Amino acid sequence: MKHFLQLRDFTRDEFEYLFDRTKHIKALFKSYTIYHPLRDRMLAMVFEKQSTRTRVSFEAGIHQLGGSSINLTTGETQLGRGEPIEDVARVISRMVDLVMIRTYDQSIIERFAEYSRVPVINGLTNQYHPCQILADVFTFIEHRGDISGRTVAWIGDGNNMCNTWLQAAAIFGFSLHVASPEGYALDNRLASSRELACLSVFDDPMAAVRGADLVTTDVWTSMGYEAEKEERQKDFADYQVDADMMAVARPEALFMHCLPAHRGEEVSEEVLEGPQSVVWDEAENRLHAQKALMEYLVLGRV
Ligand code: CP
Ligand code: NVA
Repeated sequence: MKHFLQLRDFTRDEFEYLFDRTKHIKALFKSYTIYHPLRDRMLAMVFEKQSTRTRVSFEAGIHQLGGSSINLTTGETQLGRGEPIEDVARVISRMVDLVMIRTYDQSIIERFAEYSRVPVINGLTNQYHPCQILADVFTFIEHRGDISGRTVAWIGDGNNMCNTWLQAAAIFGFSLHVASPEGYALDNRLASSRELACLSVFDDPMAAVRGADLVTTDVWTSMGYEAEKEERQKDFADYQVDADMMAVARPEALFMHCLPAHRGEEVSEEVLEGPQSVVWDEAENRLHAQKALMEYLVLGRV
């Protein structure tokens, strides 16, 4: 049994397989072809934080594969009254085939997985967002071909998305340029030496973006850090991806953002809505990539 708790839980070969399946499953969806490999299978989704894309893509995805889902939130389950995660894992996983969790610390999802009888998917933690990067790398390949040997520039918070991009850099063999304000750097302790070898850190965001094939950013204040919002608005003021910044990337560079976006903060309206932006494709590909992921976790290679 496999879990998908971090991007590095899968090998490059497994990702190549998943991308092939994603392409196939997407084509079936686009041609209105019914495909029900997970008939009668049940996905439990546990949301300890808010969501639009993750909720819709998993719920629509499992339904389109012939299965169904249950949505659990902290407030309306015993989790909110302090039931230990180990107990919740043992109970839920005796009743369903697959679990997706969005929560705070990575240790929560790891404890859940340790006690789970069924595969567990990380739908975002404070440290990682592997489902998003799965869709993002697939999206890059769809638009520009192989991502190996390319340069990805991350501007802003050294957060869950940034940590996961670094894992992707080591798996797929590309360089990650990161520029973050002081005090918001990526946490090196989460990275392996192989991952750190793919990383270049810049003080100046313009220098990080120069020559990049992909420019990407995220909100200044992630979920769980709302108390720091005002301070972050000041600290990140010089870290907006705007047209001047995109101009120093390669002419064919793409812009990505996992969404939700704050126009006028981490990205200008012009870039988000501009011709280099593939943010809506990224969001759509969450659906297709996660269908391939669920199929793989439940059925293995088909
Ligand atoms: N990108 C992403 O995970 O979006 P949601 O928070 O809406 O799920
Ligand atoms: N870094 C953001 C991503 C949201 C999808 C957060 O954790 O809130």
